[in-house]
Amino acid sequence: MFRSHTCGELRQEHVGATVTLAGWVHRRRDHGELIFIDLRDRYGITQVVFDSAVTAAHRVAEEARSEYVLQVRGVVRPRPAEAVNPDLATGAIEVEALEATVLNPARTPPLYIAKEGGEEEALRLKYRYLDLRRERMQRNIMLRHRVVKFMRDFLDREGFLEIETPILIKSTPEGARDYLVPSRLHPGKFYALPQSPQQLKQLLMVAGFDKYFQIARCFRDEDQRADRQPEFTQLDLEMSFVDQEDVLGLIERLFIELCRTITPHKALSTPFRRLTYTEAIERYGSDKPDLRYDLELVNLGEVLASTPFQVFQGALERGGQVKGLRAPGCASFSRKQIDELAELARVAGARGLAWAALPAEGGEVRSSFARNLGPGELEAIIERMGARPGDLLLIVADTPSVVAAALDRLRRELAARLGLIDPDKLSFAWIVDFPMFEWNPEEERWDAVHHPFTSPRNEDLPLLDSDPGKARAKAYDLVLNGYEVGGGSIRIHRREVQQKVFDLLGISREAAMAQFGHMLEAFEYGAPPHGGIAPGIDRIVMILADESTIREVMAFPKTQQAVDLMTNAPSPVDERQLKELHIALRS
Ligand code: AMO
Repeated sequence: MFRSHTCGELRQEHVGATVTLAGWVHRRRDHGELIFIDLRDRYGITQVVFDSAVTAAHRVAEEARSEYVLQVRGVVRPRPAEAVNPDLATGAIEVEALEATVLNPARTPPLYIAKEGGEEEALRLKYRYLDLRRERMQRNIMLRHRVVKFMRDFLDREGFLEIETPILIKSTPEGARDYLVPSRLHPGKFYALPQSPQQLKQLLMVAGFDKYFQIARCFRDEDQRADRQPEFTQLDLEMSFVDQEDVLGLIERLFIELCRTITPHKALSTPFRRLTYTEAIERYGSDKPDLRYDLELVNLGEVLASTPFQVFQGALERGGQVKGLRAPGCASFSRKQIDELAELARVAGARGLAWAALPAEGGEVRSSFARNLGPGELEAIIERMGARPGDLLLIVADTPSVVAAALDRLRRELAARLGLIDPDKLSFAWIVDFPMFEWNPEEERWDAVHHPFTSPRNEDLPLLDSDPGKARAKAYDLVLNGYEVGGGSIRIHRREVQQKVFDLLGISREAAMAQFGHMLEAFEYGAPPHGGIAPGIDRIVMILADESTIREVMAFPKTQQAVDLMTNAPSPVDERQLKELHIALRS
C-alpha cells in the first residue's frame, strides 16, 4: 500500500491513527532537531514533523528538497494551539514521522510551485507538467472536469446519446482553415481534421438518433487569441423534431443548473436575456455584448440631421451613423486619457473620436467638436444622451460597422476603467435573428454568417430570391460576460433549400456535389427537421474560473503562434516519412 490517506484528508478525528502519505515536498523548514515538511498532492497539504530522535526518518528529511516525492509513515497528532492553521483543511493536525522514503528526488524546478506568477508564460508552457502542479491550475483542471461531468450527466438524464464521430474526415466549412492530414494509401489525397462535427451530427439525425451530444475536439487553423486555440472542445449537440425554442430552453436549463451547482457563489441572472442581432449591434455595437453593465450606445442621427459639422454631416450623407457613448463622471479625464480612448477608437477603425466634457459645476464645456455645431445642437445631444454634469460624451461618425466596432471597444474600456465589471456576475444572453448572409466584396458573393447548413426563417424564404441580405437565419448565439460561448441553428433539411443556399454562396453545382454530395443525398432519404448548438467548453470554464485566457483551463495548450513549447510541435519529419506520404516540400 503506497498510501493510506491523501494529503488533504486528515482531520482532528484521525488523531492517534498511524497513516501513510505520499506526495511532493511543497515547503521544508529546517530547525535542526525538528524539520517540518509540507507534503502536497492534488487533494491538499499536510504538515509532517521529523524529530531527530527518529534518526532514519530525520535523515531523509534533511536530504529532501522541493518537489522530491516522499512516502511517510507516521502518527497523526493535534497541532499545538498556536500552530493551528485555519486556512488549511488539515490545519488542526500534523503527522509525526516514524519512517520516510524518497520515492524520487527532483532537480530544482525552473518555476516555484508554491509561489504563483511572475515568470514568462513561455516558461510555464515549456514545463507545463510542473505548472500544472500549482494550486490554481489544479483547481482549474478539476473545475473543468466537474463542468464536463455535469454536462454529461444532465444530457444523459434528458435522454441524449453520446456518440463519437471521426477525427479524420472530409473538410467541414466553419469559416477557418482546415488542418490537413496526408493519406499514405491514397497519394495526393488528404483528410481534414474536423472544424466541428457539424455534418456528421446532422447525418446522425438522418439516422434517427434524435438526441445526440459529444464532448468534441475541434481543429481550426486560424489566428490565435486569448479565447481561441487551434484545438478546442465543444459540447456538440443536435436534436430532431425541435424548433429554436426547444434548443434554447434545454441549453438555458443546462447552464442555469450547472452554474447553480458548480459556481453557487456567482450571481446568475435568469431568465437569460434575449436580443436580436440588430438590437445588440444597435445598443452595444457588438453581437456579444457584456451585459454585466449598461453603458448603451445612443444614436444621434436624428438630432444631427441638419448639422453644419462636416464630419457628422458627411457620415450621415454617406449612409453612415453618428453615435455616442456617455461616460458617467468622466469629464475630469485628462487630455492624455482622452487621447488614449481616441487611439482605441482608431485601432478599431474609426478615423477620429469626437468628445465633450460637461463640467461638474458651472464653467465651460471642453470639447473637440462643439464649436462646429449649429445652434442648440450640443444641448440636443446632451438631452438625447441623458448626460449630466460631470459626464464625458464620446462620439463616433462613420459607417455603421466602424461606429459599432469603435464604440464597442470604448464601452468595454470604460467599463474596466470605471470598475463596472463585477467578476462574480454571470450575464448570459441569447442573440437571435442573425442575418443569413453577409456580402463579401472581395469575392463578390455572399458568405454564410453562421454556416451553410443554417435554415432561413420560414417567412424569409422568399428573400433568398429577392433580397438575400435581408434574410434572417434561425441561428442563435449564447453570450456570457462579453464572450461568444456557443453558436447554433435550426438546419436546412430539404435538398432544394440547401441547394439554393449553396448557389447563393457561389458554390457551383459540381463543387456542391463533390464537397457536400453526401449531405444533399441524405436529405433525400427522409431527413427529419433538426437543429442544435455547440457551446465552447474552454471559454465557459475560463469564465467560471475567473481566468482571462482559455490557456489557463487547458492542460496542454499551445501558444499564440500555435506551438506546443513542451514537445516542440509542430516539428520537421524525416525524409522517409514524407516519401511514404508522397510529399515533397517546396523550398
Ligand atoms: P461555432 O463555429 O460558432 O459553431 O463554434 C461554437 C463555439 O465554439 C467555441 N469556439 C472556440 N473556442 C476556442 N477556440 C476556438 N478557436 C474556437 N472557435 C469556436 C465558441 C463558439 O461559440 N458547428 C457549429 C455549431 C452548431 O451550429 O451547432 C459551430 O462549430 O464558444
